[in-house]
Amino acid sequence: MTAVMTSATATGPALRLDGVSHTYADQRRRTTVLKNIDCTFERGTFYTILGPSGSGKTTLLSLASGLDAPTKGTISFDGQDLMKLGLSRYRNRHAATIFQHYNLLTYMTALQNVTTAMEITGVKPPTGSRRARALQLLERVGLDTDMARRNVMRLSGGQQQRVAIARALACDVDILFADEPTGNLDEDTAQEIIETFRELAHEQGTCVVVVTHSQQVATQSDRILTLRKGRLTEHHRSR
Ligand SMILES: Nc1ncnc2c1ncn2[C@@H]1O[C@H](COP(=O)(O)OP(=O)(O)O)[C@@H](O)[C@H]1O
Ligand SMILES: [Mg+2]
Repeated sequence: MTAVMTSATATGPALRLDGVSHTYADQRRRTTVLKNIDCTFERGTFYTILGPSGSGKTTLLSLASGLDAPTKGTISFDGQDLMKLGLSRYRNRHAATIFQHYNLLTYMTALQNVTTAMEITGVKPPTGSRRARALQLLERVGLDTDMARRNVMRLSGGQQQRVAIARALACDVDILFADEPTGNLDEDTAQEIIETFRELAHEQGTCVVVVTHSQQVATQSDRILTLRKGRLTEHHRSR
């Protein structure tokens, strides 16, 4: 697969996991979900993570996206331990997550969802207003001005997912995580979203990490990882 890189920063490791283990504990029992995971995620690369339900995919994403800290091991961004960098700073400046259930602000329009995220993370577009940039990103994921001005509850599931993607793009991050982003979408919409991920990785040098159940998504990614019994392994395609 050929990747078109547009800038010198578009290659190299973005995120490293070293000996990462994660255990959930309550009064009755402890469950170790991730076991001693070592992994590097590079810029300009589109990764998919496959694995049976309950294998810890969402847990892995929540650690890698800085929502939670691992019980053991270290995660570093550009060589810096996330715990030293600060999880909220990492989330604000470097990583964005697209959740399975979109997590949109339901009392707002599509446009407001995108501009609000830019305000919260302090992103200023290089030219023009936040509003103009948000409209441009919504257009890029296939939502016109009319849809942009509609309350998100009046958009279809696929359209809401596109808003969530535009919102993640607006934050102009180094790493984009998505948890089963095409799970509720029809095949054509899913395909367009996969293409957006590919463009982001190959044209903008973003590191894109997508958890999926879909072979359609996996076969179009650059690298396929499988999580099973707490271990992460790379799937090498035979060609
Ligand atoms: N907050 C939590 N507290 C306790 N157990 C949890 C918690 N979150 C997930 N688990 C358990 O960890 C395992 C992995 O869950 P998860 O990461 O959601 O897997 P996946 O996304 O692959 O389906 C499951 O057995 C789940 O029940
Ligand atoms: Mg999950």
